[in-house]
Amino acid sequence: MSKNMKCWSVAILLVPLLSVPAYAAGDPAVGATVFNKCKACHAAGPGATNRVGPVLNDVVGRVAGTFAGYSYSDALKAAGAAGLVWTPDVLAKWLAKPKDLVPATKMSFPGLTDQADIDNVMAYLISMSPNYKPADGAATPAASSSSAAQ
Ligand code: HEC
Repeated sequence: MSKNMKCWSVAILLVPLLSVPAYAAGDPAVGATVFNKCKACHAAGPGATNRVGPVLNDVVGRVAGTFAGYSYSDALKAAGAAGLVWTPDVLAKWLAKPKDLVPATKMSFPGLTDQADIDNVMAYLISMSPNYKPADGAATPAASSSSAAQ
């Protein structure tokens, strides 16, 4: 009996750790260098303007296809109208392979193959999104304590 109890408590302790999203470990400063790959088409930061792609300030938490003044593909506008929001989980899929998420997007970037690049650029995009409030519990205390290397 007591052995069982012990197993259960180990399992209960592990669940929150396992559910911590990988991007919680990302480093925004490293992500800023990964963002160099995006800069061919995107700008972020003060005074950023739309280029080949839309401005990425405040992109985390934004409805897809809605940055003012940018001419999105019909596919991304439709995805946004259908409820696609750039939460970190959704963004992680997009960054790995945009066309898996929205097949007819005009973002002609194949995706980031290195999970660490995705985690770091995600942390950077979150840092550029001051209005983003993780309502889904993504930034749990467990997440912040496990990413103490800030
Ligand atoms: C070759 C140009 C190009 C590169 C490189 C590129 N993007 Fe894009 N991106 C686009 C275009 C074009 C769109 C608009 C897509 C559409 O309308 O279907 C877009 C859209 C996006 C969106 C959706 C924004 C919104 O307002 O809905 C995000 C997020 C995004 N890109 C992130 C990135 C990140 C992060 C990188 C670097 C890892 C990157 N992109 C690299 C061209 C690019």
